[in-house]
Amino acid sequence: MSSSPGESSTKWSSDRFFQTQAPPPNLDQISKSTSEFIQRHVAEGRKVVLVTSGGTTVPLEKNVVRFLDNFSAGTRGSASAEYFLSAGYAVIFMSRQHSLAPYTRHYSHTTNPFFDLLADPVSHLPSQEEAGAQDEGDVIRVLPQHVDHLRPVLQAYLNTRQSGLLHTVSFVTVNEYLWLLRALSKLMQPLGRKGMYYLAAAVSDFFIPSTSVPEHKIQSGKGSLVIEMDQVPKVLKPMVEKWAPEGFVVSFKLETDPNLLIPKAVTALERYGHQLVIGNDLNRRKFEVVFVERKNHRTKAERELEASQGDGTIEADEFTSTWMRLGASPEQPSLSSSASATATATSTSTAVPNGGGKGGERELEEDIVRELCRRHDAWIEKEGNSLASS
Ligand code: PMT
Repeated sequence: MSSSPGESSTKWSSDRFFQTQAPPPNLDQISKSTSEFIQRHVAEGRKVVLVTSGGTTVPLEKNVVRFLDNFSAGTRGSASAEYFLSAGYAVIFMSRQHSLAPYTRHYSHTTNPFFDLLADPVSHLPSQEEAGAQDEGDVIRVLPQHVDHLRPVLQAYLNTRQSGLLHTVSFVTVNEYLWLLRALSKLMQPLGRKGMYYLAAAVSDFFIPSTSVPEHKIQSGKGSLVIEMDQVPKVLKPMVEKWAPEGFVVSFKLETDPNLLIPKAVTALERYGHQLVIGNDLNRRKFEVVFVERKNHRTKAERELEASQGDGTIEADEFTSTWMRLGASPEQPSLSSSASATATATSTSTAVPNGGGKGGERELEEDIVRELCRRHDAWIEKEGNSLASS
């Protein structure tokens, strides 16, 4: 499987990608319903967060039998969406089809099967009151030992449904993900600084251009299979500069070598100019993350203004890294102060005590979201201050 001439050797710009790769067929429909959702919350003055979650696929055939996948169950994104909802945000939850979703994530079909929570309807005898109140056939019962866990989850789910604060959009392929990310980010522009972008999805770095994807199932008769893939254009830069210029953008960095986390996060901040990178190590991601950010974040426009008012040079950025650990005692991790060649990163650590989360287990996402809400409020307030002083 090889690319057509001229496509594999060059790097793809995001413009070229969107000019040549077809949008998902339901893009207009999704854009319409998402736009209505956003308009409603803009009118009500609410903060809105776009949460991306789950992994993207790269199909190897147009009639897909085989595909490559990126690792992500959707745990981070779905748990975070719940905490954003509790914090009063309206949430656009853009996730991989069939990956974990807010509320239902507590009961997957494998790890905590929902049917195992239910009492056998035949052996259950209704009380006299119940029998008088309704036909027993209408009632399905939860086993008493599961009620304490299920009740708050169900209540939160019903509250969210009633309040209309959750809007869900799904993707499967990296192509769909990129088209949707662009469309939804642009639709969120009217929110200005009240829009947050929480990019927890695991996005493929490589794809096969549509002109190079075979129509039918690849036949195995020819022996080994060689696949040539092109690099997916990085969309964070156009997102920060064009699609969501006022938004509060948080990306994630996943590594398996913990020593790479902070330098890679700093590089991403320098390259894309967004507000925050949350670094996580594959094996420690449920217990610790590191927030990497500038000491004094300025938008591109603010930096240009600063340069034009001074001698034309832009002051070098300084970065901080803050570890957040679940159940750890406060400690100063021994981080190098030379996280990148052009930047210094000072580091601190916030420890999170155990207890109190859903089902009695504390989740790191609760603390991640609380910290993000604080930073997002400061970001919104900063605009208020600069408008007042101008
Ligand atoms: O779902 P779980 O099982 O709980 O796992 C959660 C997680 C480990 C997947 C999550 O916490 C995480 O780290 N997600 C980001 C993983 C990733 O794809 O990293 P990356 O280095 O490929 O991308 C970095 C950032 O750039 C991402 O925010 C991504 O949205 C963005 N990106 C990626 C590719 C691309 N073409 N354009 C992008 O903008």
